[in-house]
Amino acid sequence: MKKIVLLYLLSVFFIRVALADEGMWLPLFLNKYNIEDMQKKGFKLTAEDIYSVNNASLKDAVPIFGRGCTSVMVSNEGLLLTNHHCGYGQIQEHSSVEHDYLTNGFWAMNKAQELPNPGLAVTFLVRMEDVTEQLLSDVTDEMSEEQRATIIRNKSAELINKAVIGTHYKAKIKPFFLGNRYFLFVEEIFTDVRLVGTPPSAIGKFGGDTDNWMWPRHTGDFSVFRVYADKNNKPADYSQDNVPYKPKKFMKVSMKGVQQGDFTMVLGYPGTTQEYLPSYAVDLIEKLYNPHKIALRQKRIDIMNFEMEKSPAVRIQYSAKYAGVSNSWKKWIGESRGLKRLKAVEKKQLLEKNFQAWADSKPELKAKYGNLLSEYEKNYAEIGKFQHITNFIIEGIFSIEAISVVRRFEILSEINSETTKEHIDADKKTLLTWTDDFFKDYYQPIDKKTFEEILKMYSKNVDSKYKTATFQLIDTKYKGDFNKFTNFVYEKSIFVSKQKLIDFLSTFSHKSVKKLVSDPIFVLFLEIRTMYINEIDAKYVQLQNAVNVLDRKYMQGLIEMNPNKIYYPDANFTMRVSYGKVDDYMPKNGVKYLAFTTIDGIIEKDNPEIYDYDVPQKLKQLYEAKDYGKYGQNGQMNVCFTASNHTTGGNSGSPVIDANGNLLGLNFDRNWEGTMSDIMYDPEQCRNITLDIRYALFIIDKFAGAGHLVEEMELVY
Ligand code: ARG
Ligand code: GLU
Repeated sequence: MKKIVLLYLLSVFFIRVALADEGMWLPLFLNKYNIEDMQKKGFKLTAEDIYSVNNASLKDAVPIFGRGCTSVMVSNEGLLLTNHHCGYGQIQEHSSVEHDYLTNGFWAMNKAQELPNPGLAVTFLVRMEDVTEQLLSDVTDEMSEEQRATIIRNKSAELINKAVIGTHYKAKIKPFFLGNRYFLFVEEIFTDVRLVGTPPSAIGKFGGDTDNWMWPRHTGDFSVFRVYADKNNKPADYSQDNVPYKPKKFMKVSMKGVQQGDFTMVLGYPGTTQEYLPSYAVDLIEKLYNPHKIALRQKRIDIMNFEMEKSPAVRIQYSAKYAGVSNSWKKWIGESRGLKRLKAVEKKQLLEKNFQAWADSKPELKAKYGNLLSEYEKNYAEIGKFQHITNFIIEGIFSIEAISVVRRFEILSEINSETTKEHIDADKKTLLTWTDDFFKDYYQPIDKKTFEEILKMYSKNVDSKYKTATFQLIDTKYKGDFNKFTNFVYEKSIFVSKQKLIDFLSTFSHKSVKKLVSDPIFVLFLEIRTMYINEIDAKYVQLQNAVNVLDRKYMQGLIEMNPNKIYYPDANFTMRVSYGKVDDYMPKNGVKYLAFTTIDGIIEKDNPEIYDYDVPQKLKQLYEAKDYGKYGQNGQMNVCFTASNHTTGGNSGSPVIDANGNLLGLNFDRNWEGTMSDIMYDPEQCRNITLDIRYALFIIDKFAGAGHLVEEMELVY
């Protein structure tokens, strides 16, 4: 009998272990904490194969792409893959009416046709190092936070300098575990990165914002770039003399496909998570911040939708803006739902109850941690109010396009009779170029309606002490009629009309400053900002600093309380390893989603009437002919799959890797039911969404006729 109980307990334990795919682990510590578990789950390689300082390892094939994505090297000649939505800015930049690469795709048929991208860089991790001891050796518990920060700042500068002296590398130090540890990163940055190819948006963005964050998914979300270096294989700015970069390591591509349950690993740069927040903070996010931020964006989305549906020209103008607004909007909706469903607040409260009991159990713990939670509670009660108004400023007032024009023109308000003509002319020139660019994608009816509705929402939802003079003017002079006030503003303001701005600039002198600063939109902007500085900023920063200290202590306490638990640090856009398996899930009771999609689903969604689902003719022909070449499997063409790797924003473009270290696909999204994983991970519900690499190769080869690119790669069968 005892034995059965023991077996039962063991099996419960193993099921728990097998399910727990949570975590974004530090490559440096895989050997210490993860490799055994990874190998138990099927991984065939060693920790050294993933991260090694002395030998080429997988980490050398995985650079940061641009400022917020990940990418993967797939050839000995600098060929790089990332997501379509990560290369979107560059693709758009190269697009014009004559060469509409967004709509039609683009493929360089030889290296001479590849397109340079000023401003784009990829960043390789050379090595990382735990520098906690060096940074904190002179720090004591008795010190003030300012003293602590100064020591850390000075030591950091010293270490960074030492790490790169005499090299072309860059270094940075980042805090981990909420300031309990620090790591140094040495990086090599390449700035000649050329566009090699992209599918049309009808493939690369198939499903658009409708399918975004959703499964089942059929998006061919990839684009192809090439990294160039100088003759010595070192980073160099764009030059015709540059040659394709030979990476220390490139990833081989698996042609085997994936099965339910297969081991998968994601190597990449997750941006931000907040897994160790106390219940008070999670409660605010779920019940206060997210609902208002969602409502504010919902309003903007409705207004854009209304106008975009009326006019194809407006749809093009606003497509990128719309994608940006709707991406976070949709994520927050999923996040709030997920937190509620998971009972995240209650779970955190339970943890806190245990923490308090533990802290109260010994005098020395009590001295250190006894008041921590009540301090949290006190601080968050205040923080909630400040963050609420801040959300209405950032997601509300500052989301108005005319306000962004004002912010851009604000530099002119500093001009006076002493400013030189050269200075004024330079400002005018920059602003003229900017104006020209900005108003290409500006449609006044959208901005105007947004202005009116956002002001209404602001007025309705914020404390009266934050209602600046403009709001009082609306109350008194306009008798609360926001529409009438908006009509007046959009009639009068120069910031909502390209022509008015150009006229204003062309005759601008220091005498024009008066007109600038009395413009009703300028007035509104200045009022809000002044109010923020006077009423919010200082107090809020103070509260946040207090919470930062509590965060650090709470994390320390949690680790002390559970000495056998292995904690992973929150994401901070440094390289991490997540691992899990190809896995289906149940989005709701009675419904099971398979872990794979195929091209059949693309054809099912096909609808030439709907922009997001307008399948290209050529793709339909390939489908009809079942012409999948070596990329198909059993007469099927797989497109995407889900797995239980813990990922977040920044992991876009990350290689999803099999047990042998070969490339299975590119991570590009998460499922809607799982977006709360930035705050609390749920092994039952959280899935990352990957583009099957075979579909990308099929598009490159069969759809685009750029098979020479596939030839460059090393395929593993
Ligand atoms: N949800 C993905 C991410 O967070 C993709 C976003 C781009 N796609 C889109 N339809 N807006 O970045
Ligand atoms: N699309 C996201 C990105 O650009 C990845 C999805 C996620 O948030 O997990 O990083």
